[in-house]
Amino acid sequence: MGNIAKRNLLTVGMVGLVACLVDTPDTPSTDPRPPNADRQTGCAIMCHGLDTNNAPPRSLNGSMATTSVGVGAHATHVGVASTWHAPVLCADCHVVPASVNAPGHKDDGDNKAEVIFSMKAAATWNGTTCQSACHGSAELGGSAPNPIWTQVDGTQVTCGSCHGKPPPAPHPDDQNCAKCHPTMENGNQTFRDPMSHINGVVDVDPSVSGGCSSCHGSAASSAPPKDLAGNTANTSPRVGAHEKHAGASTWHREIACTSCHLVPVTDGDSRHRDGDNIAEVKFDQLNPAGVFTRATSTCSTSYCHGNGRGNNGTVVWNAPGAKTCTSCHPTNGSGMSGRHRKHISDERMKCSECHGTVVNAQQMIINANLHINGVHEIKMANGTFDAAARTCANTGCHETERW
Ligand code: HEC
Ligand code: HEC
Ligand code: HEC
Ligand code: HEC
Ligand code: HEC
Ligand code: HEC
Ligand code: HEC
Repeated sequence: MGNIAKRNLLTVGMVGLVACLVDTPDTPSTDPRPPNADRQTGCAIMCHGLDTNNAPPRSLNGSMATTSVGVGAHATHVGVASTWHAPVLCADCHVVPASVNAPGHKDDGDNKAEVIFSMKAAATWNGTTCQSACHGSAELGGSAPNPIWTQVDGTQVTCGSCHGKPPPAPHPDDQNCAKCHPTMENGNQTFRDPMSHINGVVDVDPSVSGGCSSCHGSAASSAPPKDLAGNTANTSPRVGAHEKHAGASTWHREIACTSCHLVPVTDGDSRHRDGDNIAEVKFDQLNPAGVFTRATSTCSTSYCHGNGRGNNGTVVWNAPGAKTCTSCHPTNGSGMSGRHRKHISDERMKCSECHGTVVNAQQMIINANLHINGVHEIKMANGTFDAAARTCANTGCHETERW
């Protein structure tokens, strides 16, 4: 009874359904239908869909236009591999018939198609717009929580369409989703696990609500200290530089767990304990070549600790002492790209004259988010740098020159 109440049963008109219903000559299979009704012989030939997919287009009246309600946003929901959401099945919006004669298809002779949303979608459809769990809500800060089915222009599926980024208070006001949502890439609001997005489950690192520290970490963070053996010193190899990476810094971004680990969602997650009590270190895309060697507690071929010219950094994970500017790259021009040496040593120019968004004249980092992010940030008082051609133009100092 509860289930039925939660389903929003709505009937909608379908044009010319009766004329279309021709029984297939084959005996219908007794196997359960695959959930997505990937093209079935017979469906598209006579009635709706194309060779690749049974969903409209083509609609029952032959329309191919997304502005036609029988077509609408079908193609953006089904049969597409998405980088940002879990697959949407026909069954999320319809009862999929096993054959043309199955209940739910040619059912009650009323020439109407049923749109019966699944529990996951928990939605209502009024013939024009949908209100659904999939498209978030205004309370979550979504700008288009009731999308128009026939408006297929991308404007209703931007990051802020369904929920704020992030949602408003009481949700934490923090842009780096990966800190608490293990499904996200660190820092850039893309998905490392799109299958877990819009699947009806909010994926949150339980340590955020204080759960994981029974074995490692503290009330503040699930990262060591303390490590699995109870060590708390940063010079202890398994504690190492965790705090340095997690803590806010004047010169670098906060580095989330996902930059170096596949973070488990629960203690029982298959990504978590495999029985050896040794943490798996797996760097994200900013450090594609990064390697951690446990025997020497060393990270090598690291981008982050390199000189900005490739995956060439090496650093000891538990070495004492703070990093200085020259720990990673020179500041005297030598060993730096192009005409650094000429400008720094000969012309006595300051870094800030060409890297004005990152550093100031006192050599202080002024925007930690732009430093060690995989991009060379060039901002001069006058002129532009063409990164592809490696040329500077209109600087007011000289003609267009190659760096
Ligand atoms: C996101 C929800 C959603 C999904 C997923 C979905 N549909 Fe639909 N479908 C609709 C809506 C809304 C309509 C329009 C109903 C109306 O005419 O008012 C519709 C209409 C139809 C129609 C009637 C078309 C016409 O010309 O009137 C067919 C056939 C259909 N869908 C088949 C499918 C198949 C097959 C799939 C999976 C491959 C699918 N749908 C997936 C929402 C969906
Ligand atoms: C500091 C931790 C933290 C950060 C950072 C964070 N979230 Fe969350 N988020 C949470 C927690 C905790 C919940 C679960 C809240 C609940 O269950 O009520 C949540 C829930 C959500 C939900 C589901 C809300 C609902 O009630 O259905 C969305 C959507 C979401 N977050 C989006 C984001 C986005 C987008 C970002 C990054 C721009 C982000 N979050 C960053 C902690 C965080
Ligand atoms: C079509 C609507 C829609 C769009 C567009 C959308 N989200 Fe979501 N998002 C949701 C829903 C619904 C949830 C609730 C949890 C779930 O079902 O996975 C969610 C949850 C989240 C969460 C919480 C973790 C999780 O997956 O449970 C994060 C983080 C998040 N979204 C980030 C983003 C970002 C970043 C973008 C833009 C690239 C985005 N979302 C675009 C609907 C959307
Ligand atoms: C900059 C990379 C980096 C980041 C960021 C990072 N870790 Fe680690 N982590 C490591 C390395 C390297 C080790 C392995 C130490 C060893 O085995 O010698 C490790 C080990 C661990 C261990 C095992 C400790 C032990 O006793 O063996 C846990 C637990 C852990 N990390 C959790 C986390 C959590 C949770 C976060 C985020 C809050 C995080 N880490 C962030 C690099 C990182
Ligand atoms: C029962 C003890 C225990 C609990 C509770 C626990 N962990 Fe762990 N954790 C471990 C062990 C042991 C390792 C070392 C990895 C191994 O053995 O393969 C580890 C390793 C990790 C790592 C390093 C990456 C990896 O998987 O190797 C991260 C990140 C991590 N845990 C996060 C968490 C989070 C988040 C929670 C809460 C959801 C949590 N842990 C709860 C015991 C625990
Ligand atoms: C942990 C290594 C590391 C340390 C320490 C470090 N840098 Fe960098 N820096 C980099 C990398 C890597 C780049 C390459 C550009 C990028 O990825 O943002 C860079 C780029 C720069 C740039 C070019 C602008 C840009 O970000 O693209 C300036 C200027 C700079 N660093 C100044 C400094 C100053 C000043 C300090 C000391 C306060 C410092 N750096 C400390 C790694 C480091
Ligand atoms: C005359 C302009 C200019 C000055 C002055 C300058 N840079 Fe650069 N810097 C550049 C340009 C242009 C690039 C981009 C090179 C590329 O992408 O090929 C760059 C790139 C970098 C990089 C990336 C690695 C590399 O060698 O290309 C670092 C790190 C960096 N600068 C640091 C600094 C620091 C630190 C200072 C001051 C000590 C400084 N730069 C002064 C123009 C300048």
